[in-house]
Amino acid sequence: MANDLLKNKNVIVTGASSGIGRVVAQVFSRQGARIIAVGRDLERLDQTVSSLVGTDNLSIVCDVSKPTEIENLFQKACDFIGQIDSVVHCAGIQKTLPLQALKESDFDEIFDTNVKSAQFIAKSFRKNSRYNKDGSSLIFLSSVASICGEPAISAYSASKSALLGLSRSIASELARNNIRVNCISPGVVITEMAEKLFSQLTSEQYQLIKNKHMLGFGKPEDVANAALYLASDLAIWVTGSTLYVDGGYSAQ
Ligand SMILES: NC(=O)c1ccc[n+]([C@@H]2O[C@H](COP(=O)([O-])OP(=O)(O)OC[C@H]3O[C@@H](n4cnc5c(N)ncnc54)[C@H](OP(=O)(O)O)[C@@H]3O)[C@@H](O)[C@H]2O)c1
Repeated sequence: MANDLLKNKNVIVTGASSGIGRVVAQVFSRQGARIIAVGRDLERLDQTVSSLVGTDNLSIVCDVSKPTEIENLFQKACDFIGQIDSVVHCAGIQKTLPLQALKESDFDEIFDTNVKSAQFIAKSFRKNSRYNKDGSSLIFLSSVASICGEPAISAYSASKSALLGLSRSIASELARNNIRVNCISPGVVITEMAEKLFSQLTSEQYQLIKNKHMLGFGKPEDVANAALYLASDLAIWVTGSTLYVDGGYSAQ
């Protein structure tokens, strides 16, 4: 593979302190990008940044469920790095909650973190010439759970379905700004989020989910490579779409 697909590109990666976001930051960095790594845990963000190529990458602490913090993030990022070429919004939470256990506060936390964040990231990105007018990219992490039902994750599934609608409408609105907006919908990828999910399953439930992945469970690199394609000029004519990276889960 070429190693300069993102040469001199400035990229914000949310959720970069863990799992998919951390590997997106690493893969993008090896392709020439400067990275702003975003999350709430500074120590783990700094671990990510220390694993990147070059010295002009930065950690910024931000709770993405809060629009005011998102706006501050974009201000700080642009002060440090200038215009932003891409944002990969990987930060998200999953809670396994059957209806009898689900509280209003859980629903709000899931929607604030997974959906409201995406809406206000798009708003802050678009503002004040923060994006590259020659072509920018915004990528949201949805999930196969957006289109495939599973028990006990209804609020999470709803949040990931909401991202599909949100991204199509934002794609329509921002095409005139030359900002492409796309989603990636992964199946189960082995990260802390997946390990937590597995710890709550019986062995039969685990096997059922495993069997739905025709190509087995995914690795963070599988998703990072899809994000690399969508962020790069290889996807210059791709907007408003969803790329399913799920080992065949959603094909059945
Ligand atoms: N793993 C899977 O099987 C899978 C499947 C489909 C979709 N996805 C989606 O892929 C994305 C990444 O998942 P993952 O598996 O990499 O999860 P993960 O390892 O649990 O990482 C989640 C990341 O989100 C950040 N985060 C959570 N709440 C935040 C908040 N309020 N503000 C800022 N950052 C926040 C965490 O950072 P801090 O702790 O530092 O805040 C962490 O870096 C998520 O959107 C998830 O829904 C994952």
